Amino acid sequence: MTVESVKPAAPQARELREPPLAGGGVPVLGHGWKLVRDPLSFMARLRDHGDVVRLRLGPKTVYAVTAPALTGAMALSTDYIIAGPLWESLEGLLGKEGVATANGPTHRRQRRTIQPAFRLDAIPAYGPIMEEEAHGLTERWKPGETVDCTSESFRIAVRIAARCLLRGDFMDERAERLCVALATVFRGMYRRMVIPAGPLYRLPLPANRQFNRALADLHLLVDEIVAERRESGQKPDDLLTALLEAKDENGEPIGEQEIHDQVVAILTPGSETVASTIMWLLQVLAEHPEHADRVCAEVESVTGGRPVAFEDVRALRHTNNVVVEAMRLRPAVWILTRRAVRDTELGGYRIPAGADIVYSPYAIQRDGRSYADKLAFDPDRWLPDRVKDVPKYAMSPFSVGNRKCPSDHFSMAQLTLITAALSTKYRFEQVSGSDDATRVGITLRPQRLLLKPVLR
Ligand code: HEM
Repeated sequence: MTVESVKPAAPQARELREPPLAGGGVPVLGHGWKLVRDPLSFMARLRDHGDVVRLRLGPKTVYAVTAPALTGAMALSTDYIIAGPLWESLEGLLGKEGVATANGPTHRRQRRTIQPAFRLDAIPAYGPIMEEEAHGLTERWKPGETVDCTSESFRIAVRIAARCLLRGDFMDERAERLCVALATVFRGMYRRMVIPAGPLYRLPLPANRQFNRALADLHLLVDEIVAERRESGQKPDDLLTALLEAKDENGEPIGEQEIHDQVVAILTPGSETVASTIMWLLQVLAEHPEHADRVCAEVESVTGGRPVAFEDVRALRHTNNVVVEAMRLRPAVWILTRRAVRDTELGGYRIPAGADIVYSPYAIQRDGRSYADKLAFDPDRWLPDRVKDVPKYAMSPFSVGNRKCPSDHFSMAQLTLITAALSTKYRFEQVSGSDDATRVGITLRPQRLLLKPVLR
């Protein structure tokens, strides 16, 4: 037996490679300018350089993981935590004590607090609210009148999250405020993430002032929600009560800041992601009337003509596949980051402790190595006999592992129901002034989608 054979780590470590540097960097900003100018194409091309590549963002080196199997391995590994430029900018602005940014035991405790509200068996209790909101939308929209899909999608996403999870009587005015605040905050956060130029953002420029106002309103909104519940003295069986009654590791009530940050951490991703996805679904229904017709036919075959109900969702296979395919091509969460907590490796590449890592569900889900006819909108690729061709982790819009979105069932149920309710009543057409080009921020959404509903 040689000394080497009892110390396998050393030779293995020597074999690890340095990930290649991605092309296209410029002095000072590195690849940051590409991430600002054309981030989606930039991320989508990175796999041509390797399964893991290095990027330069200003003075920093960031690692990009481009192969589905490696993104899955990273999300499931304890070598990586939530951290990095995205989360630092999120923490600084949205709060340090919410579940989306915490790590370790605090994160585990917080997940235990919120998880019951999202469990599969908790979702049917939200069914009547989802139905009411979905059908309410079809009543609210008038045939032939232009629908501003941005505000309408936000409105329903906020109402469903707020009514189901926070049992709040949330008025449209609040949804409108949240929509405006999040749009501004998320756009500003994205800029702060890819061009980390701290002092620049403290200058009294109009864009910075607008950003700060939006952020202040977001926090005010959350304070209003918490204060209202406390004043009511009510303790309904919901997520807000669970948050208000939560105890920390020592069995003490959690602090005010954590309660506040937790509500931000639920409401913020809960409305922005769902709203963006609804916008893309509306765009798809207008662009692919043949699939809208198939959704309509499927709903009618399941319901026999009565209004679609929450209980029907499971039988709506094609409708579900339309939602999944829309999320494949336009995932609301298009970029994610992690930080290595120790020296480690991914796919034979050396990842040093402290390295910031990014990966893009958008790039992964549009990769021709994983999807035939990668840009075609083809919901049938999710049929049982074809779905087996999709490589593992090539479609994870809710992520996997301990940071997986708690709301996957909650989101899929409402998105399927909304798509079904809208498609059975209307066909959709884009009207003049509509712009469905992709607008990049922390999430992806259409620039300004304006649709005309036409009665079927
Ligand atoms: C986390 C996607 C809806 C609450 C995540 C993550 C993704 C995601 C990809 C993981 C982030 C990471 O790995 O770093 C989505 C999509 C949605 C959606 C695509 C809808 C289409 C929602 C809703 C809520 C929500 C409706 C709440 C009402 C959260 C929370 C986390 C999270 C709290 C943090 C989980 C943790 O770090 O433990 N979401 N989400 N999401 N999502 Fe969602």
